[in-house]
Amino acid sequence: MADGRPWPSVKIGNLQQLAVEKPVSFQYPDRTSPAMMIKLGAPAYEGAGPDRDVVAFSSICTHMGCPITYKDGRFLCPCHYSMFDPARNGVPYQGLASDYLPQITLRVDAGTHDIYAEGMSGLIWGRTQDVPVPTAAG
Ligand code: FES
Repeated sequence: MADGRPWPSVKIGNLQQLAVEKPVSFQYPDRTSPAMMIKLGAPAYEGAGPDRDVVAFSSICTHMGCPITYKDGRFLCPCHYSMFDPARNGVPYQGLASDYLPQITLRVDAGTHDIYAEGMSGLIWGRTQDVPVPTAAG
C-alpha cells in the first residue's frame, strides 16, 4: 500500500523484457483502468530501474477520457491533440488537457528485476476518488 491507501501491488513486467520507446500496456489499479509503461532511455521524474528511465501512467486522457498513445517521447491524445511529457510526471504541454496524467508508482525487485505497480498520483479521468474500483473480477 502507498500513502496508507489501498493500492494493490501488481506485477506488470520485467526490466529485461523492456525495450526503449516500446510501450507496454496493462491495467492499474483495477481491470477497468488502462495504463502504459515505457522505458524512455533517459532519466525521468519518478523513473524506476537502474537508469531511472522506466515510467508508467494512466492511458486515459485527462481532458475528456480518450485513450492516449505513445509516440516520439510523448503521450498523444488523438481527440483534441493534447500532449503529455512522460519524463516530467505526465505534465500536459499542448492541447486542451490541463491536468497531469496520473503517474503510477513503480518498484523494481532487485533480485528478479520484476516491475510492480504500487500506487498512483492523481485522479483517473471520470473518477471521484483516487482508489481502485472494486469489481467482481477483481
Ligand atoms: Fe484528450 Fe480532449 S480527450 S485532448
